[in-house]
Amino acid sequence: MRKGILALATSGLLAVTGLAACAEDKGADTGAPKTPKIGVILPDSKSSARWETADRKYLEAAFKAAGVQADIQNAQGDKTQFQTIADQMITNGATVLMIVNLDSGTGKAVLDKAKAQNIPTIDYDRLTLGGSASYYVSFDNKAVGKLQGDGLVKCLTDSGAKNPAIAQLNGSPTDNNATLFKAGAVGVLQPKYDAKEYSLVADQPVPDWDNAQAGVIFEQMFTQASGKINGVLAANDGLGNAAITVLKKNKVNGKVPVTGQDATVQGLQNILAGDQCMTVYKAVKQEADAAAALAISLAKGETKSTDQTTKDTESGRDVPSVLLVPQAIFFNNVKDVVTDGYVTKAELCTADFAAKCTEAGIS
Ligand code: BGC
Repeated sequence: MRKGILALATSGLLAVTGLAACAEDKGADTGAPKTPKIGVILPDSKSSARWETADRKYLEAAFKAAGVQADIQNAQGDKTQFQTIADQMITNGATVLMIVNLDSGTGKAVLDKAKAQNIPTIDYDRLTLGGSASYYVSFDNKAVGKLQGDGLVKCLTDSGAKNPAIAQLNGSPTDNNATLFKAGAVGVLQPKYDAKEYSLVADQPVPDWDNAQAGVIFEQMFTQASGKINGVLAANDGLGNAAITVLKKNKVNGKVPVTGQDATVQGLQNILAGDQCMTVYKAVKQEADAAAALAISLAKGETKSTDQTTKDTESGRDVPSVLLVPQAIFFNNVKDVVTDGYVTKAELCTADFAAKCTEAGIS
């Protein structure tokens, strides 16, 4: 019977499908569980390569392996579109909604709408401040920032820079993760600033993590500092690459350590080339698997307990959480990311990087 309904749905017999959908939804009245249908909204495809190359892939695989229907869409950075997609998912009978918000305000509106319809929700990767998500699945984002701060210190020590001048290129001011990344990194760097061991010469957020805007901002930082920047705390690989492009133009790439995050192919290649000091690898497969498992339980009406909670700094609520452990990646352990299957040797070790790949032990 169910197979028949799916066949009708895909054959475009909308009128019949509508009836079939009603019949399915009767589950609510009879107390029988509804057929799980998970709606996922990804934020964009430009602020980081991860959303389309990793998150979508791993989420799709996890739902497919469980034989659960899922609709994964990308809001492409458009907050109105984000709401429209959510409305459609709710109308189309999503039994669980999972979102990566574009900001807490619009994220909260979506979560509240779902809640009003008794649809459980998951904040995926980014916590929606003041929101009502049933769960939060992410990495320990303050630990991500700490790895970046520690990484920068290590690379500055290796570069032998005396009293280095630091520029901080932070993530989007509307992303709670960016706040946590910065807090984690500054926890390491502030004592150095206070002791006048390092100096902070520039510190700016990049709206919406926009890589092009990051280039403009870093160019201004570089000019204002008369080129005296010895280290760049960049919140992710895209922002790091924007800084590296400016450093290249000024022929100082490789002399100025730059941090990153996401272990993107571009970030890893920048590390192999010596232009980027480090990145933070977040095993997105673990994140996607954990979120999919939770979503499937919720869709079946089960509740899962989690070991961790995260304090929503706006509402004070402790949100049940799964927080995974990030890993720092330098030249010497780029190979770990390949071994883990996150990037392939083929995409990383293209002609220009083949020799460096060998040197880094990637085989
Ligand atoms: C994610 C990062 C990503 C950034 C830009 C953050 O919320 O945690 O992995 O690089 O958004 O998309």
